[in-house]
Amino acid sequence: MRVLDKVDRLTGALIGLALGAFDAALFLFLGTELTIDGHDARIAVYASFTSSLVLLGYLLGLTLELRRKDRENHDKLEEARVHIARNEKLASLGQLASAVAHEVRNPLAIIRSTVQNISEAAPSSGDDARFVMDEIDRLSRVVSTLVAFARPIAIAMKPTPCAEIVQRTALLAVRMLGDRRIELRASSTVSASVEADRDLVCQVLLGLLGNAADVTEPGGFVELGAREEDRGVVLTVSDRGPGVPKELVPKIFDPFFTTKEGGTGLGLAVARQIVKAHDGEIYVENRTDGGACFSVLLRRTA
Ligand SMILES: Nc1ncnc2c1ncn2[C@@H]1O[C@H](COP(=O)(O)OP(=O)(O)O)[C@@H](O)[C@H]1O
Ligand SMILES: [Mg+2]
Repeated sequence: MRVLDKVDRLTGALIGLALGAFDAALFLFLGTELTIDGHDARIAVYASFTSSLVLLGYLLGLTLELRRKDRENHDKLEEARVHIARNEKLASLGQLASAVAHEVRNPLAIIRSTVQNISEAAPSSGDDARFVMDEIDRLSRVVSTLVAFARPIAIAMKPTPCAEIVQRTALLAVRMLGDRRIELRASSTVSASVEADRDLVCQVLLGLLGNAADVTEPGGFVELGAREEDRGVVLTVSDRGPGVPKELVPKIFDPFFTTKEGGTGLGLAVARQIVKAHDGEIYVENRTDGGACFSVLLRRTA
């Protein structure tokens, strides 16, 4: 009920007044006679009629207003509840992550060096050893991401030109993308500066570019751009992949949500943490011509 959402006390009373005036005009038009003891009572009747309608409108408007406030409070409460639940989850995750990292890192390093020694001593085991070492490296990466995710972010913000962020990210990404035969199309005409920790923002954009590359065939391209909005500067990473299915959009920023075999599901969760620490926003939209577009909104330097 969009229209009702706009009605408040004053509009309610005004609607009542308009209805009263309309009724009075109608009575006048029809030439209705109203007399009390032979005296013309039209004015008194119209006035009482109209004031009742104004009062009714006022009360209805007030009821709608109160109901709306109630609903807003309820929404805010729900938001706070979700926020607290997420924080609790993160805090326990932090403890778990450091415990796991502590237990897992050393044995992994020992296994890796043992496998390496074996493969050097027996070259025929080369392929198997390579496979085991690749898997160990992947596990180590998972542990490192987990620890990075669990650690509170140390953030050093300073005014940073957007062009610098785009250029630096492009520089760092070109190799990773080049290895996968994916072209990076980076462009920024934004001259504004943002309040940011350059390295962390680059890390976010690199993660987004990695995800974009995951849905791009060799020979394809991904885009990195920036544009200005009223609220700040928006850095964008877009691809021509399948986009994010609508039902997954609310989930992809959750820790451990992944649809990839071998994915950690932590990339976007870390990205969101970093962007939140910047008092910014990160969101995804699907492009009309296919593919996903991730946006990172950062506040302009005052
Ligand atoms: N560019 C993209 N296009 C389509 N889906 C995406 C894209 N980026 C992320 N996703 C979805 O979000 C999920 C979570 O991403 P992320 O947190 O980086 O973890 P991971 O890359 O380890 O799966 C992915 O598994 C994928 O389903
Ligand atoms: Mg990822």
